[in-house]
Parts: sequence; C-alpha cells; structure tokens
Amino acid sequence: MEIKIVKTTSPKEKPQADKLGFGKYFTDHMFVMDYTEGKGWHDARIVPYAPLSMDPSCMVLHYGQTVFEGMKAYRSADGGALLFRPMNNMKRINLSNERLCIPPIDEEFGVEAVKKLVEVDKDWIPDGEGTSLYIRPFIFATECALGVHPSHTYQFIIIMSPVGAYYPEGLNPVKIYVEDEYVRAVRGGMGFAKTAGNYAASIKAQEVAGKKGYTQVLWLDGVERKYIEEVGTMNVFFKMDGEIITPALNGSILGGITRDSSIQILRSWGMKVTERKLGIQEVYDAHAAGKLEEVFGTGTAAVISPVGELNWDGNIITINDGKIGEISGKLYDTITGIQSGKLEDTFGFTVKVS
Ligand code: COI
Repeated sequence: MEIKIVKTTSPKEKPQADKLGFGKYFTDHMFVMDYTEGKGWHDARIVPYAPLSMDPSCMVLHYGQTVFEGMKAYRSADGGALLFRPMNNMKRINLSNERLCIPPIDEEFGVEAVKKLVEVDKDWIPDGEGTSLYIRPFIFATECALGVHPSHTYQFIIIMSPVGAYYPEGLNPVKIYVEDEYVRAVRGGMGFAKTAGNYAASIKAQEVAGKKGYTQVLWLDGVERKYIEEVGTMNVFFKMDGEIITPALNGSILGGITRDSSIQILRSWGMKVTERKLGIQEVYDAHAAGKLEEVFGTGTAAVISPVGELNWDGNIITINDGKIGEISGKLYDTITGIQSGKLEDTFGFTVKVS
C-alpha cells in the first residue's frame, strides 16, 4: 500500500533537549490508516499532527477496544536514525489485536510506516545523552455504536515524542511498593496484551503508592497475591545468589521487548537467567539471607531502572545499599549503546531507517 505524505506548512518549535521529560511534546506529523470491514486497512497517510474529531458514541470511548505499542528511534553517530527491534513491536500489536478482536495489521507494512514517519520527522530525534524519539503506534475502535461487540471500523495512528528519562530518578534506583490490595490482571484476562484497560487498572494503585513516596508498584498475581508479575510499566528481574530470575510469561504479564533483549544479553555474558514463578516471600527470604544482590526493571520507556527499595506490607528492604547495581548499570550501557549505534550490535537488534 502506498503511503501518501502531506507535509505541514507550519513546523513547531522544538523543545530544549534538557527539558524533554517524557511524552510532553509531539512531532510535526503523524501516520494514519483506516480500517473498514469488507475493505480492510486503507488510506495510509502521513499528515500534519492534529487533534482528532470523534463522535461521542465512538466505541473506544465506552468499551476501551484499543491497543498500543511503545518503541524508540535513536540518532546514530553518522547522523542517521536507528530503530530497535521494530518487527517485535508489530508482532506484539497483532497479539494484542487478536485478544481485543481488532483486525491484524501487515507487520512489515507497520515497520515501513514507522520508518517513513521517522524519516519525515527525523530532525525531531534528540541527540542528548539519555534522549530518544519515543514512537507510539495505536489502534482503536471508531464505530459509532453503544452495543458491546467488536467495532466494524478502526483507525491505526502513529505519533512520536522526543523524550528524556521516563522516571525523574533517571538511572538512579527507584522505590517500589509491593501492591497487595489491587491487581492488574488475572490469567485469562488481558495482562499479556498492551491495551488501555491494563493501564487504567493500574492507576489507582500507582496513585496510592505515589502518595506514600513510591515511584511504581510491583504487581503480584491476581489469585494468590504471592507471585511476582511485573512493575508498573516494566518487567522485573532479581539477581539472587549469582542467578538472574524473572517471572515466566504466564498470560497475565506483558512480554517486554527490553525483557527479551536483556535475557539474550545477560546470557551472552555467561550469566544464568531463569524464567520461572517467583514468590515475593522468596525475594524477602533471599534478602534476609544476604543473597538478594540486585533488582531492576526493564521497559522501552524506562530502558533499565534499578530498584533500591521494596515495601511489602510495611516491611521495607534496601537493595544493594540503594545504589545502581553492577549488572543493572552494565545492561543499561549495553542496551543504550546498541540502540544508539555506539556499540556493535552482535544481536541484530537495530534496523536503519534509511
Ligand atoms: C513502554 O515502555 O513503551 C510503555 O509502553 C510504558 C508506557 C506506558 C509509558
């Protein structure tokens, strides 16, 4: 399918690299494509970034039939742009689509659309340390109807935002509250899908934890509230007695692309990485025995975020003296080095935009 391009006649002023924050500024253009039952996906176009006009009965506003992705473009040393495993995002959006009864997109065309949009707005890729261009593809139900059923029409949009660190702490360790009242997802639910409802379910707990001085919550399983699932916007890893352990993907955990990349990199360093069920009590026992060496989160937005403190039901433990762990620091440097082209990509993770 051809992508029609209409360029803006009034480009916006770009924000200062040291004031970016996360997701506050948006580039000059966006990609849009429509879906109509019987016709499929059609009318792919890159147009000036602008508000959408929506009917108040638009189904996504009522029943949340929508999915999204998060990915990043980096400026490489030669002035070009690099994407990080973009095909994985397109495969995952189709996994989410399947769960939400949204028609699949052509994965290769999805990557093509991202490349074209990044090419059009390449001047928006920031080049300061720790900055990147965050890319947000999303699909939502557009039919005007109040009956609960899959929509017959959808829109696929990609917007982009120059960003700095996701957490104000940057790479400094964050404090995490172990959530034992609210749950994010249950098996058989939508936990593995990147869909708005999972994030809506997380806001209340995040608010409560925030008021107590915590950056994020650590989610436990929705049935027994014993087993670790993920942290707010990240997957989570524990280094205990020399071994790295991360919860196995069980249907209620998001299959993070940074999670998978971290596992591959850690194993290439000869480290033992195990994906399995991990109880919160086991983590506390390891700490009591002096065997909990590091905890860190992995995610596209946050990359690697060391965890310095856990609070489970008032029992507070400090990890690695609240300092950035050796593995967390090395993993952050390696992933961001590969993403920006500063380190050789022996894994074949990066894709050139042009
Ligand atoms: C990402 O890491 O890309 C995410 O989707 C997290 C987000 C909700 C900020």
